Amino acid sequence: MRRRRFLNMSLAGLGTACVMGHGAPAQFIPRPGKDKWAVIFGTWYGTARDAGVWISEGLGGMAAVFDARQKPDLAAFDHLVLGTAIQGGKGPREFSELIQANAVAIQGKVRGLFAVCGNLEKPVGAEQKKTYIDDYLAPLCKADAGVPGRVFNGRVTKVLMSPEDYKIVKDLYERLGLPPLKDYDLLRRPDCLEFGRSILGRLPSG
Ligand SMILES: Cc1cc2nc3c(=O)[nH]c(=O)nc-3n(C[C@H](O)[C@H](O)[C@H](O)COP(=O)(O)O)c2cc1C
Repeated sequence: MRRRRFLNMSLAGLGTACVMGHGAPAQFIPRPGKDKWAVIFGTWYGTARDAGVWISEGLGGMAAVFDARQKPDLAAFDHLVLGTAIQGGKGPREFSELIQANAVAIQGKVRGLFAVCGNLEKPVGAEQKKTYIDDYLAPLCKADAGVPGRVFNGRVTKVLMSPEDYKIVKDLYERLGLPPLKDYDLLRRPDCLEFGRSILGRLPSG
């Protein structure tokens, strides 16, 4: 009996491993609800991951949070918050590919959009909202009109960067006559929490 139970548990574990993919991080959903929510992010160096996790906390802890590279099945969710880090005006290829591959599955389910960008360490504003949300993410995700969107200031963590990426940004700072590129962190958890809360406050009724 004990052996059979062990075998069943092992097989169940194997199934989970196959579904999640090898090395997939554990999902932490403190307060799962009846409807299924997910926050999907595109990132190179983790800023958009942190923004996604903090937005999920602002949503009340009921959303699963996925890196687009995990290729989650977006059809499994009722509500989606989609967001990405920005390099050269766009998110990572894997992010846009996931959205495009799930274009039908996500229709009518997008509840929020977010972007994280450096903006040369200057505060983001209406211009970045137009560029990254209205003109880029909203059409990519085919979001309904009025879906809330927010751009956050991001960060640079030099030790994580590829030499090529580091050189691009360092050279840009030099060309523009800015002080030498140093680590910075302008992403604010309270802003992300607040955005999550604001999404809940604007849910369509019915
Ligand atoms: C190669 C490279 C290109 C970037 N291009 C832009 C850009 O076009 N506009 C911008 O505002 N920030 C740009 N950034 C800054 C990133 O958006 C910022 O560092 C962000 O926090 C990265 O998020 P991540 O850690 O999730 O990848 C760029 C950064 C790198 C390394």
